[in-house]
Amino acid sequence: MARPHIEPFCDRDVPFKKMNMKGFPAGMQYKMLSLDTDTGACTMTVQLDAGYSQKPGFSWSELEVLVMEGELQLGNKKVGRGHYVFFPAGYAQPAMSSPQGCLLLMMYNTGEPSLVESDTNHALCRVDRFHQTDSYNDVPWAMGNIAKPSVATGCMIKLLNFNDRTHALTFLYCMTPHFWQDNISYHDCAEESYHLWGDSWMMQFGTVPTGGYFWRPAYISHGAFASERGCVALGRVDSKLFNYFHYNPWATVDENQQRAAARLAQRDPQLYQWMVSNSHNHPHGPEDFELTMPRMGGSLASREPDPKQAFTHSHGEGGHHHHGDGKAHGHEH
Ligand SMILES: [Fe+2]
Repeated sequence: MARPHIEPFCDRDVPFKKMNMKGFPAGMQYKMLSLDTDTGACTMTVQLDAGYSQKPGFSWSELEVLVMEGELQLGNKKVGRGHYVFFPAGYAQPAMSSPQGCLLLMMYNTGEPSLVESDTNHALCRVDRFHQTDSYNDVPWAMGNIAKPSVATGCMIKLLNFNDRTHALTFLYCMTPHFWQDNISYHDCAEESYHLWGDSWMMQFGTVPTGGYFWRPAYISHGAFASERGCVALGRVDSKLFNYFHYNPWATVDENQQRAAARLAQRDPQLYQWMVSNSHNHPHGPEDFELTMPRMGGSLASREPDPKQAFTHSHGEGGHHHHGDGKAHGHEH
């Protein structure tokens, strides 16, 4: 399954563990913030101890790195706080070292942490996706209206990465001191945040302090929002971001999903029809008759229908239908 809901959580509350996965040299420690136990994809607070040194190499997973404290020698470039790097999977990362030690945020997006010694890119690497920037100094703050409808004024962003296939985003965001927004929101995508400095507050989850983190799956209500002193955070979404706003503190995940489906039905009616009717307008094949028809003679007669494989519901006609449980998708017959 995908990463579970983690919120509230603060990395200051847990100790570092030694990174001892194959390929990584000694001197790397981590705090696991969230982990997809199927793929190994994860977000970690990482400390490189003073004197840490790693040879050039690539990861089988896409990797994002943000320097939070200290200095990192990245090939022939010395980088510091706020430096952001996007390494596509298979990209030959330069030698890295940190004479004084440093603190990083590391995000392995498509698989578990890995490091294969190599000074050349993997043949299938999408090399053009590599980029890096000093996010604190070289990117201006922009209005937070990257998604419509927009968050309240006083929440601004710096876009750091955009995935052209999934529309996943990585960005810095800040809230001004005394920021507030009185509505409740949810999204069709998972949302992640690490608070680099400051605090923010949400009605459901309380105050997120410096070092505070959340991984929030889709459709979970969050807000109203406020920030007393202001905050700077790294935020991410794993697919297209749309802000659904409402004022019902009792709305459930199921209800939020149904409202999102209703919006899709209005905006993209043909796509919606195709999604809910897909694989429903089918003639039953022989294996279906084995499960549904009375057994007569031979070995079939001794087979009892397996209740686990029986249809949970039947469609007299294909196309639009509604399930009370709100799960209109993914039927296999
Ligand atoms: Fe959100």
